[in-house]
Amino acid sequence: MKKALITGITGQDGAYLAKLLIEKGYSVYGTYRRVSSPNFWRLQYLNVLDKITLIPADMADMSSLFEAISVSDPDEIYNLAAQSYVGASFDQPLLTTEIDGSGATRILEIIRHINKDIKFYQASTSELYGTVAENIQNENTVFCPNSPYAAAKLLSFHNTRIYREGYGLFACNGILFNHESPLRGLEFVTRKITNAVAKIKLGLQKELVLGNLDAKRDWGFAPEYVEAMWRMLQQEKPDDFVVATGETHSVREFVNEAFKQANLNADDFVKTDKIFVRPHDVNLLCGDPSKIKNNLNWNCKTTFAELVKVMVNADIKRWENFLAGESFAWDAPSFPDNITILKRHSKNNIK
Ligand code: NAP
Ligand code: GDD
Repeated sequence: MKKALITGITGQDGAYLAKLLIEKGYSVYGTYRRVSSPNFWRLQYLNVLDKITLIPADMADMSSLFEAISVSDPDEIYNLAAQSYVGASFDQPLLTTEIDGSGATRILEIIRHINKDIKFYQASTSELYGTVAENIQNENTVFCPNSPYAAAKLLSFHNTRIYREGYGLFACNGILFNHESPLRGLEFVTRKITNAVAKIKLGLQKELVLGNLDAKRDWGFAPEYVEAMWRMLQQEKPDDFVVATGETHSVREFVNEAFKQANLNADDFVKTDKIFVRPHDVNLLCGDPSKIKNNLNWNCKTTFAELVKVMVNADIKRWENFLAGESFAWDAPSFPDNITILKRHSKNNIK
């Protein structure tokens, strides 16, 4: 039986990947951070918590990563752990660099020293493109990061390539464009929107306040993207791949589609406030998935409208169940009002 270690197994992609690998017959290990309140809701939601082995580890702590890799003795490592919120990287640039930049290098070093046969997947990102040089981005497009998050991910992108070319490790970068699902964190714009639509529909919220509505993203469906990660580690030779739908939509389009799904008119509820605008944003992302389609036979299936519908319906269902007195693994009821946090942040946004 193959063994896989997933860092960041408690996150959106970690949970979906754990489910996929279990279905493929893997023995799945995952790292989690010891926190005062448990954070296993996604693994419970997908009904996989009791089918995996958890190991405490932090990307900033070499010893715990060494321990995690030693005790799990994996065939494959999927490095998904990160401070993944671009907005927060402007507040915590050094921590983000430590986790998202140096973290991958720690794992690569451990692999190099203890078992060079371990295959390594690095969660790279379309954020690397930043101020885009081309309207459609592929594996050859120049990177120009626009956030401390993207700068940190650039470091891990290159070290993954360097350890592959220099030490012969089987190490791959998945340059994944945005991918969403009902398990998406609430601070990301898609889930912030679908959660708000659900609450407005049920009379639990009055308005939705957002930042830059003109930003365009290539949004896909997360469960399909974890399949692409797995395929990258099954090929004969390691390589880097863009994973994307090839379509781009603005935040405004996402908003309109989400309210439409709930038979509401977005203009009646949506406001903008510059406290949600970042010091430096990425305006356009649209990936070209030709390479992964041709080489690994990977294709996205879920359309933009279907993605929005799945997310809106899931949030409506959760809130309906909540109002009916049911409780189950879910994040929204305990999510804090983020206005205070963002007001502090906004003072530093003034150019
Ligand atoms: P996510 O939901 O935010 O999950 C991030 C995971 O990393 C969580 O399990 C989190 O643990 C863990 N983590 C954070 N800091 C850590 C630390 N210091 N030590 C150990 N673990 C830590 O992110 P995601 O959407 O699943 O994304 C997975 C990866 O893909 C990330 O590296 C992200 O940057 C990258 N990526 C995501 C997308 C996307 O659109 N989703 C696109 C491109 C690349 P807690 O649960 O304890 O917080
Ligand atoms: N979060 C958020 N909240 N974003 C907003 C808001 C708001 O209220 N209003 C507008 N936006 C805009 C952001 O400025 C950005 O241009 C866009 O919506 C998407 O923001 P996020 O959903 O936070 O995602 P992201 O694109 O910055 O980053 C995600 O995708 C990357 C891949 O391109 C994350 O998953 C990263 O980890 C990932 O690497």
